[in-house]
Amino acid sequence: MSVWAVLAAAGSGERLGGKRPKAFVRLGDQPLLAESLSRLDASAWIEAIVVVAPPGWEEPAILLAEELGCGKVSACVTGGPTRADSVRLGLAEVPPGVAVVLVHDAARPLLEDSVVGRVVAALGEGWDGAVPALPVSDTVKRVDGERVVETLPRDQLRVVQTPQAFVADVLRGALTGSDWTDCSAAVEAAGGRVKIVEGDPRLLKITDEADLERVAAILNS
Ligand code: CTP
Ligand code: MG
Repeated sequence: MSVWAVLAAAGSGERLGGKRPKAFVRLGDQPLLAESLSRLDASAWIEAIVVVAPPGWEEPAILLAEELGCGKVSACVTGGPTRADSVRLGLAEVPPGVAVVLVHDAARPLLEDSVVGRVVAALGEGWDGAVPALPVSDTVKRVDGERVVETLPRDQLRVVQTPQAFVADVLRGALTGSDWTDCSAAVEAAGGRVKIVEGDPRLLKITDEADLERVAAILNS
């Protein structure tokens, strides 16, 4: 089964508030992008990688891939205004014969190959897509302004992460129109069957400065 990765790295990182786009802020002595890129490149599951870079950062992204010796990077494209746009633009570089696409956020640097293995394996079982998920430990309420409307049954809730894997044609067909918050939402809305597999608590998403410090601490431990 041929699997290509689309690495979404085109966000501006407004909430992080640095001078550079989030994918290029420092994590240790490398840009954040280096961590997920080199891990995807090292994965035996992945055949090729499309990097989606922020406007004006295509060249630094290509240079970084060369520096890291990431020979699987087949294209680097400019992202769009929303994440869904960026994924669509990346997906356009994936050749028609490729069966499975794995979409990963550069904002989640601590990617273990076991997670890649789990989402890809689910596609081998005939699912349209697979997402890593974690149980919810807090009680979650639905609210309307200041007022609590209801308490949601926690055992039916999951928080999901990337990498998310999909049958390439299913994702292509689903990712039109709206600005989906994740690719799975688009595939679900199009009627696709998406499986949840075990996520990884260390696969944190870097949103703000505190997240960056947390991930740096895990890397140094
Ligand atoms: N992303 C992207 N293209 C966009 C927006 C986001 O490729 N137009 C990517 C980001 O680079 C990131 C992932 O999608 O790897 C998740 O997005 P998020 O964490 O929201 O990152 P940013 O959009 O960069 O951050 P912010 O929302 O704070 O600006
Ligand atoms: Mg964003």
